[in-house]
Amino acid sequence: MRVSFAGLELTNPVIAASGTFGYGVEFEEIVSLEKLGAIVTKGISLEPMAGHTPPRIVQTAAGMLNAIGLQNVGVEDFVERKLPAMSRYPKCKVIVNVFGRTTNEYVGVIDRLNDAEGISAYEINASCPNVHAGGMAFGTDPYSLEELVERTKRVAIHPLIVKLSPNVTSIGHMARVAAEAGADAVSLVNTFLAMSIDAETRRPRLSNISGGLSGPAIKPIALRMVYGVARAVEIPILGMGGIVTAEDAVEFMLAGATAVQAGTASYADPRATERLAKGMEAWCKSHDVEKVASLTGALKTANSQ
Ligand SMILES: Cc1cc2nc3c(=O)[nH]c(=O)nc-3n(C[C@H](O)[C@H](O)[C@H](O)COP(=O)(O)O)c2cc1C
Repeated sequence: MRVSFAGLELTNPVIAASGTFGYGVEFEEIVSLEKLGAIVTKGISLEPMAGHTPPRIVQTAAGMLNAIGLQNVGVEDFVERKLPAMSRYPKCKVIVNVFGRTTNEYVGVIDRLNDAEGISAYEINASCPNVHAGGMAFGTDPYSLEELVERTKRVAIHPLIVKLSPNVTSIGHMARVAAEAGADAVSLVNTFLAMSIDAETRRPRLSNISGGLSGPAIKPIALRMVYGVARAVEIPILGMGGIVTAEDAVEFMLAGATAVQAGTASYADPRATERLAKGMEAWCKSHDVEKVASLTGALKTANSQ
């Protein structure tokens, strides 16, 4: 079940997605963390952030809408109090999701994380508003993205995974920009901008008015994006968006992902990630797949053998 990418060796391709699994340690009594390939932490900023006021989460027909507002404990508290607890689970790699409002803030977080023990990689959340670009997300402007990746790569002492926003016309183009600027891998997709309205009260259901859509509703779009990005870049892809079952995860690997992340699934079933890891192993056995890594990009099309 082993997979490797960007110099990381994971015991299996299942990774808990950022923002849906706390800092990892909160799940230790629910999930056998040793059974996961890795966890991605909640996004970490230079200073602690309280996030938006509730309501911050709304259930939708086939997924979930969230506007948490990037609540987190801040890099100092994360390094001092959250990260050390994960050393109890050495098989489960820790990937730290990083964000800032300016490129300097991203660099500052990475600088501090570089001094800490127990981190295997960084995942840069490029879906954050860039205050120097009028609030336009880093990941929707190729020039902001290029600068962000170049500057963070320069300071990062661990592999740099760039998490792409799906709210763009060509995610393949953005992936190429990230790769050329030095990204070691890309992860996709983040949530889709969306909103929900209560007709009775005539009010938006989220305090922030709009938020990000995730879960099974986005899976077919995410799959197509992973497939497209696999054709656009040579660097490894971590695929996600609506993965609930082992078959879903296999589909993302066939589309070109080296490993997969599951997020919203943990809200419906807190053991979803462990179940996925077991389920993928069972799927491989029942389909005579000797190495799960052989599934990456193995999609058969009319043009392939
Ligand atoms: C409540 C919530 C919080 C999230 N917070 C973050 C975050 O801090 N950083 C980030 O890069 N992605 C964040 N995400 C996006 C997820 O990591 C993932 O990209 C997205 O939800 C799609 O995967 P899924 O359909 O399996 O949930 C968040 C998602 C949810 C539902």
